[in-house]
Order: sequence, then C-alpha cells, then structure tokens
Amino acid sequence: MFPKRSLVREALASPPGGKIVLAGWVRTLRCSKGGFSFITVNDGSCFESIQVMAEASLSNYESVVVRLTAGCSVLVRGELAASPGKGQAVELKASEVELLGRADETFPIQPKKHTMEFLRTVAHLRPRTNTFGAVARVRNAVCAAVHGFFQERGFLYVHTPIVTGSDCEGAGQMFRVSTLDFEKPPRGADGKIDYSQDFFSRPTFLTVSGQLEGETYACALDKIYTFGPTFRAENSNTPRHLSEFWMVEPEMAFCDLDDDADLAEAFLKHILSKTLERCPKDVAFLSERNDKTLPDTLKHIIQSDFVRLSYTEAVEILKASGKTWEFPVSWGVDLQTEHERYLTEEKFKKPVILMNYPAKIKAFYMRMNDDAADHGGERTVAAMDVLVPKIGEIIGGSQREERLDVLEGRIRAMNMKPEDYGWYLDLRRFGTVPHAGFGLGLERTVQFVTGMSNIRDVIPYPRVPRSAEF
Ligand code: 4AD
Ligand code: MG
Repeated sequence: MFPKRSLVREALASPPGGKIVLAGWVRTLRCSKGGFSFITVNDGSCFESIQVMAEASLSNYESVVVRLTAGCSVLVRGELAASPGKGQAVELKASEVELLGRADETFPIQPKKHTMEFLRTVAHLRPRTNTFGAVARVRNAVCAAVHGFFQERGFLYVHTPIVTGSDCEGAGQMFRVSTLDFEKPPRGADGKIDYSQDFFSRPTFLTVSGQLEGETYACALDKIYTFGPTFRAENSNTPRHLSEFWMVEPEMAFCDLDDDADLAEAFLKHILSKTLERCPKDVAFLSERNDKTLPDTLKHIIQSDFVRLSYTEAVEILKASGKTWEFPVSWGVDLQTEHERYLTEEKFKKPVILMNYPAKIKAFYMRMNDDAADHGGERTVAAMDVLVPKIGEIIGGSQREERLDVLEGRIRAMNMKPEDYGWYLDLRRFGTVPHAGFGLGLERTVQFVTGMSNIRDVIPYPRVPRSAEF
C-alpha cells in the first residue's frame, strides 16, 4: 500500500511540529550555498505549493535532491516547521526525499510564462500549471454548486441520452453516429443511404440538448435537471463556442416564463457565491492574472437584481445607443455578442435577462405569445436569455409550448415533420401542463467565474472545428 500521506492543503493548515508524508510534483528547486535546498512541491489539492527544506545531510542529497527538476514526482517525509519566509506559516523539513519519477529537461512545463496557445498543444500536461490547476478546481466547485442548488430544492437528477434521433434545437447542427461503412454505405432503391441497416436501424446523432427528454420527466416528476455533454457541429471559431461542451438543463412543470427567470437568476447567484466560498485562492489568482475587478464584479452580481427587459425594449435601447454596430439592429434580428455585451457592460453594468424574442429566430418548442398586434403581425415567443458581462449569453431558456395544435403548427412552419416528434407531442396529448426550463453552458460559466478569455482553456480537452487532439 502507498504510504499514508497528507495533502498539501492539509499540511499548510497544520501547526508546526507534526511528522508527515507528502507526495507531489516538483515545481521549482533552489539550491543554497549554505548546504541546503528548497523544493516547492505541488499536489493539486490546493492552489499553493509547499516549500520543502532539504539539508545536505540527507543521504541522497547530491545524487537526487540537487538534481531534481520541474516535473519530477517525489515522496517526502519530514516534520512541519514554522516557515521563516513570508506567505506560508509552515514548511516541511525533510528527513527523506524519495524520487518517484524523473522528468528531464524536455518536460514542457518549465517554471516560466507559457502562452495559452502553447499550453493547448500540451493539454495533457497543462493541469500541472498554476492557471490550469486553478481552473480545474473552480470547474469542480461550479459542478458541485450545480448539484447542490438543485438537490436542495428537490430537483431530480435525470440522465438524458447522448445518442439521440431528435434534433432539439431544430438547427441541423448534429454529429452523426453511425457504424456504416463510409466507403460503401448500403443504399436503397432510391439511391439514398439505407439507415435501416445502420447500428440503430435509423439515423442517430449526438445530442445538442437533453431538453426534450428532460421535459418528459418534468411532466411526470415535476422538477428535474439534466447535466451532461452536449455536441454541436456548428462551424463557430469563437472564444465562446465548443463543439463538445457541458450543459445544465433544469425543467419545471407548473411554471411560466417569470418563474423560469427567477430560477435562472437564483441559480447563477448560487453558483457564484458557492464557488467564491470554496475556491477563494484560485479565484484570487485568476483575477490577478485575467481581470483584477473580477472578485468585486462577482460579489456585486450576487447582491444585485438582474435587469429584466423585453427583446423589443432591448432593440430600442440598442438603436438609441448611438453606437455603430458590426451587425445592424432592427426588430427581428438575432442579437449578437456585441449587442449583448453593450447591454451588460455599458448600459446596465450587470446581468440582463432578455425575454420574449421574435418567434422566427427561436426554436420550435418555445411558447407562442399572443402579441402579434404589437409588432406589425410578427409574434414573439416566451423565450428568456440571461446575458452577463464579458461573455454575453450564458443561459438560454423558455416556457414550452404546451398546446398541441399550436406546437404542431410551429413544427410544420419550420419545415419539420410532427411525426418525427411523436413522443414529444404525446406530452401535449396526455395531461399537458405549463412548463419551462433553461440551459446553462458550463464552460461559459467557468469562463465567467475565472475571467479566462478563451473557452478552450476551461475544459480539459477542447473540441472545436478542425481540432480534436488527445
Ligand atoms: O441557448 P441554447 O442553445 O439552449 C438550448 O439548447 C435549450 N435546449 C436549453 C433549454 O432550454 N433546456 O444553449 C444553452 C446554453 C447557452 O446559453 C450557452 O451558455 C451554452 O448552452 N452553449 C454553448 N456553450 C459552448 N459552446 C457552444 N457551442 C454552445 N452552445 C450553447
Ligand atoms: Mg441560445
């Protein structure tokens, strides 16, 4: 059995005097002329590394200790001693330093500044840097806060499928799942590929959202959430898009759009406050690195009411802003990141919940509002997007269309076939109820909390167009 060891986090919180065993990876080595060396060792249990003091009297001092380099793994036995240096209360005075695994000078993570672009090429080693260690712990804290929030409120965690036959967003941006031979796929009499011979005897894809299946459980068990990987084959090379990302999707029966917005606001505030509480050092380091105003911004957001605005009001504000937009604004256009950021960063300086978007720019399942007269015949749907500074859209949701005839009409109007959504329409045939939900992008949330500017740096192995390394 591996020797029972303390984590660096525990050691740093302990009083001097205790004898402990530690294991981790060397970050730096500093040999002093006076016949001793300082080794900083990190084990990922917290942001800080511990300082290990090794004296020349150790039997392997010359053969091992002074030859340690960044990346070596070590096991250290010793006694905690009051640290004379600033910053840390204790250091470890080694009685034994055992080299577990050598890392030579080709180890890519040397103690110096590396660019994010370079670190993406060594994504398997980047968690050994301060930045990626901090991001990983924050990401974990965000996920724990997600579950904590819903579990405390009686939401059931439901696992929706990853392989699916239905296109939730109706946008056709799905990755196909198939075992057919690409070189010679079976073809029917019409010359088209015969998917009845495919693995599932039908066309199948990776899910773009667990919402539709989530709705079926909400319409039986009241409040549910799903939280899983999500895939979009859209060709977006931006700092806010991934082809594979994680989405949290709550769904509530007996709810309307205002209830949905209330839940979204409480949820986001909960995530921010729990993460700040759990990872103060990581957030402090990341804000120093990325955006010094971050902790204050997050605290301000936790305490303030989000702005709630209709899409129509937002368009008026954008038109009256006096700005020149790359994408001009008029009623009916989809809002772009530049517009979302203006509203949250300049106009209101806090999160904004935009509600009631034009039907023609939103998905088929959103509930139709009865307001055509207000917009020259154009109708809106009960949609809700939560926009935050720096990121733009972090949550997208809606009240769902619960009226069978209206929903069927909407599906047809979007050139889709109601037959393809039979089971989904059944929820409207058998005991339909008003219900609503939303999706929160996990990576955009981690970006928001960490100030990391590129979404590729908040997921361990980013998948984006033309890149799926590791
Ligand atoms: O607005 P979206 O597309 O909404 C849905 O998928 C709904 N079915 C959710 C629901 O109502 N249950 O996506 C929701 C959120 C976005 O606000 C964004 O934060 C994130 O998912 N998102 C992405 N994150 C990273 N990369 C992408 N390509 C993303 N697409 C959406
Ligand atoms: Mg959206």
